[in-house]
Amino acid sequence: MKKTIAMLPGDGIGKEVMDGAKEILKAIGEQFHHTFTFQYGKIGGEALDHQNDPLPEETLALCKNSDAVLLGAVGGPKWESNSPEKRPEKGLLRLRKDMKLHANIRPVKAYESLADHSPFKKEYVENVDMVIVRELTGGLYFGKPSERQHAGGKESAVDTLFYSKEEVDRIIRTAFEMAKGRKMKVTSVDKANVLESSRMWRETAEEIAKEYPDIELEHMLVDNAAMQLIKNPARFDVIVTENMFGDILSDEASVLTGSLGMLPSASLSEEGLHLYEPVHGSAPDIAGKNLANPLAMILSAAMMLRQSFGMEAEAEAVENAVKRVLDGGKLTPDLAVKGKTILSTVEMVEEVKAVLAEEDAILSIMEAYA
Ligand code: IPM
Ligand code: MG
Repeated sequence: MKKTIAMLPGDGIGKEVMDGAKEILKAIGEQFHHTFTFQYGKIGGEALDHQNDPLPEETLALCKNSDAVLLGAVGGPKWESNSPEKRPEKGLLRLRKDMKLHANIRPVKAYESLADHSPFKKEYVENVDMVIVRELTGGLYFGKPSERQHAGGKESAVDTLFYSKEEVDRIIRTAFEMAKGRKMKVTSVDKANVLESSRMWRETAEEIAKEYPDIELEHMLVDNAAMQLIKNPARFDVIVTENMFGDILSDEASVLTGSLGMLPSASLSEEGLHLYEPVHGSAPDIAGKNLANPLAMILSAAMMLRQSFGMEAEAEAVENAVKRVLDGGKLTPDLAVKGKTILSTVEMVEEVKAVLAEEDAILSIMEAYA
């Protein structure tokens, strides 16, 4: 197959982890005889520095002319005092909106070999296998007005949590569809005891649940969900929630896996052009030091192979390689504990590649005998 991938490394460690994902994709391309064409675009702080726009037109065009988009991370202290429209994050938010990426899928799966790295007791985290379905183009992030106001000489600020029924319907459906192939359970997280938007959310979830009689639906208030994620994380299968709630809960859930550096994500549009990015940010403190964990980015690339290109075997090859490297006790500093080998970003990528090559060699021997 021939596929064109838009590569938006962005800021901070975004560049390093993106280089890693590219190496792995090149290896997969060779092994499975695919041609991947990588086309680079600027976004976030880097785009601001060059074009004074966090999402230049050409970047958007490049994305729309590709088969899938990979994104590293955006943001950093350099641009922190910029005006709202000139912030790196604005580039990412505009991209999500322009590409209509309404559903952000964030799988949280504990790796057995990392169970000791989580600050939680092993028995709590070992069976964790959930997906957070975060609504991505509405809610508190996009509602209008969102501004500073100066009425009557007094300063105030407002953000708006707005949802159309249609938007809620669409994301809840996505969650139910995901639950089908999993443990058949949807936890809809809201704040229905306070927010009107949450009461509509809850009603909508109830309506849709009728169409999926085999899937269990439960409602949970977001404050309780934050607690349950720590108290009993293995109880969750698919969590579906508002944009900002999902942002917060997914960072929290990442701790269960041992590191935010492990979490991939897929942002899906109804039109079929999707974007894949790690859940972690640009980590300016370690940027450029070859210390970042590239696995969340590599696992995001695996999600792309499966979801956008239908390359199931290729995706599994990458995921298995990652698992084998972790099982071998070789880890980046975010995961490392005493007695384990600490790898740099580049070394981690090399390890994953080495395992991929090994698997490839075994497969060709098996084929030769078949
Ligand atoms: C995320 C990030 C972004 C978000 C930031 C960088 C705008 O935290 O993808 O979770 O809040 O959505
Ligand atoms: Mg976040």
